[in-house]
Amino acid sequence: MIGVIGCGNMGKSMIEGISNSGLIEGSQIGIFDINKDKVDELSSRLGVISEADETAVFNNHKYIIIAVKPNGFEKLFKTLGKVENKSDKVVISIGAGIKIASLEKMSDKNYRFFRAMPNLPVLVGEGMSAISHRENVSEGEVEFVKSIFDSFGKGDIVDESLMDVVVGISGSSPAYVFMIIEAMADGAVLKGMPRDKAYKYAAQTLMGTAKMLLESKEHPGLLKDRVCSPGGTTIEAVKVLEDSGLRSAMIKAVVSATEKSEEMGKK
Ligand SMILES: NC(=O)c1ccc[n+]([C@@H]2O[C@H](COP(=O)([O-])OP(=O)(O)OC[C@H]3O[C@@H](n4cnc5c(N)ncnc54)[C@H](OP(=O)(O)O)[C@@H]3O)[C@@H](O)[C@H]2O)c1
Repeated sequence: MIGVIGCGNMGKSMIEGISNSGLIEGSQIGIFDINKDKVDELSSRLGVISEADETAVFNNHKYIIIAVKPNGFEKLFKTLGKVENKSDKVVISIGAGIKIASLEKMSDKNYRFFRAMPNLPVLVGEGMSAISHRENVSEGEVEFVKSIFDSFGKGDIVDESLMDVVVGISGSSPAYVFMIIEAMADGAVLKGMPRDKAYKYAAQTLMGTAKMLLESKEHPGLLKDRVCSPGGTTIEAVKVLEDSGLRSAMIKAVVSATEKSEEMGKK
């Protein structure tokens, strides 16, 4: 049912997520990578099927996830053998920066494509993945593809025109968050906390705070206001962050990453 080509960082985590979530049986997942060791390790651990090659993945499955590096897509389509019933196939590309129009061009337009942009936390089952598609797919297919991405985090359907903003807000942002955790820990270390404890306190606080926001669905400003007691420690820190331009730096960071992605897409 689901075939995955490329079992590197992303492919492997996606296979683990799909398999561990129970979305479908391991025996309905077929995988292939040019490194046989990667396939053998996953198939013996998860009970997924090792496919002979890329063509077998296409022929044996309806949903095909392509998780090779972006520069490997063209070669992959060129070297594919005969694929039966191409128009029944739903091909999901996670290749960063590759537009649906480019996928159609390099593959002779017969497949029905989804383009997805997952992010690094897919590796721990907490990814944020944007998913876009053309109109030639059914509602059921859209739902199923979303459920694939939900199995290792959260999937969200967006218009393809938003993919550059997705790079700014979720694709590149794990780096910004690592920087925030590191900086918070530096402050605590400066005031005497051991470094390993400082990372744990900062990271757990970020994770818990994000969970609160997602679960309560309340406005982040309101939640912030609630923890700022009049004349207390938190509003003191908030003033320092405002004086130091934290919010405007973050807005500029998201805009810059988005613009860089737009620029790269024009080449
Ligand atoms: N990492 C991220 O945070 C992230 C986020 C969003 C999207 N993506 C996208 O995800 C895709 C995969 O990234 P990754 O970091 O997982 O790459 P990766 O670790 O290099 O994994 C790709 C795997 O596919 C294998 N491969 C290459 N050509 C193949 C072919 N024709 N058939 C079967 N296997 C093949 C590679 O083998 P070799 O190593 O021998 O070439 C490697 O094992 C990329 O297109 C990237 O743009 C990544």
